[in-house]
Amino acid sequence: AHNPIHHVESRLKSDKSIIEKLRRKGLPISMDAARENINDIAGIRVVCCYIDDVYSVEDMLLRQSDIRLIKRQDYIKTPKDNGYRSYHLIVEIPVYFSDKVRPVRCEIQIRTIGMDFWASVDHQLRYKKTIGADKDIEAIEAELLKCAQTVSETDCHMEEIKDMIGDFEKI
Ligand code: GTP
Ligand code: MG
Repeated sequence: AHNPIHHVESRLKSDKSIIEKLRRKGLPISMDAARENINDIAGIRVVCCYIDDVYSVEDMLLRQSDIRLIKRQDYIKTPKDNGYRSYHLIVEIPVYFSDKVRPVRCEIQIRTIGMDFWASVDHQLRYKKTIGADKDIEAIEAELLKCAQTVSETDCHMEEIKDMIGDFEKI
């Protein structure tokens, strides 16, 4: 009765970003090098309402026999120093092409709406090179870290409320 998934987003890394990443890693610019070394050419983000939904989605995914787990990073249990929280999986799935089946890697980020909200604001700070020199980046980062803590507490609180309500009854 309860859908653990709020919504799903997906994106393919652009040629430009793939080339940039290969350069950054000092790798040759080739299809093979990209395929072998870049795990996030295909990216999927699963946004959930509650923290325990994140783990349910992970469980359901990994129970699928055609999905092979390559790497797992739990930034919910161990957030990054800046406050970033999310659950990351690198998986490999067989993709059927016209002539052959090829294992393809994919980065799956699973997070709550709260974590997603925080990450999108953080992303603006990190990747918008337009933040003026007059802005106090350290102060913004400190505020963001405080927000990450607030979101984390709210996520836990929301889960408690959900548990208080109990099972959703089918009407
Ligand atoms: P790349 O950063 O893609 O080279 O991978 P990595 O091996 O460093 O993995 P990591 O798990 O740190 O990051 C993978 C992805 O997670 C990033 O491309 C972002 O989408 C997201 N991510 C990681 N850290 C942060 C963060 O501090 N802020 C935000 N907004 N997103 C983050
Ligand atoms: Mg990436």
